[in-house]
Amino acid sequence: MSLFSRWFVPVSCAGLLCASLLLSGCRGQMSSNPPIHPNWNMDSQKRIDAQEENLFFQDARGMRPLVDGTVARGWMRGDSAWHEGKKTDGSYVDAVPTIDKKAESTAVMKRLGYSPGHTLKLDAALLARGQEQFNIYCTPCHGYSGDGKGIVTKYSNGLVPQNLHSDYVRKMAPGQIYEAMAKGVRTMPSFVSQIETLDRWAIVAYVRALQLTRLPGVAQKGERK
Ligand code: HEC
Repeated sequence: MSLFSRWFVPVSCAGLLCASLLLSGCRGQMSSNPPIHPNWNMDSQKRIDAQEENLFFQDARGMRPLVDGTVARGWMRGDSAWHEGKKTDGSYVDAVPTIDKKAESTAVMKRLGYSPGHTLKLDAALLARGQEQFNIYCTPCHGYSGDGKGIVTKYSNGLVPQNLHSDYVRKMAPGQIYEAMAKGVRTMPSFVSQIETLDRWAIVAYVRALQLTRLPGVAQKGERK
């Protein structure tokens, strides 16, 4: 019994040391042998990488083309007025559209009190949202007042952002201003991945409000009210 207790501590320490060395493995040494991998689970399976050949298909393309007419769940963009700013006949919408009935309700929509199927209300909340988004995304080029003299014009070579108070933009239908953001226009990039649909419409409303600030007659009418 006394012998056992005398050797117990050193032997168990040595055992623990060996076990930890074995378990931690040796790092930093090169070996051409495959690593010991006791439990494979599904760690390594056959797969087709991007652009890889797959002889299973006749055209040998591993990346399969999308099947015509299919839409991924949640990606249906059926309401052209809401999503593209265009009526079904292809002309631009000239009024504030109704939110696509199948649109997914977003956090912004909920905050502004909207749900799919509602017509946007041109109220202070929508304009405030539009102002916030405009100031984030559009001002670098178009400037805070929309005159097209944003900060990039100081440094860029040849990029000429449109003056949003020009007759040309003033006469644009709301749907066309929307489309400029959704698809981009010539040298202006598309904002489709940065600005969600509701926010794009809020920006259209704010651009219209900005334009009104430079129409003297309208500003006076506003003051008299
Ligand atoms: C990177 C700079 C840049 C940003 C950011 C930018 N624009 Fe533009 N925008 C341009 C330029 C440049 C043009 C002129 C394009 C042309 O005619 O070649 C333009 C043109 C436009 C036009 C006129 C479109 C037409 O059909 O001629 C509208 C409307 C417009 N921008 C709105 C916006 C709004 C709203 C935003 C914010 C979401 C925005 N832009 C952000 C650079 C920008």
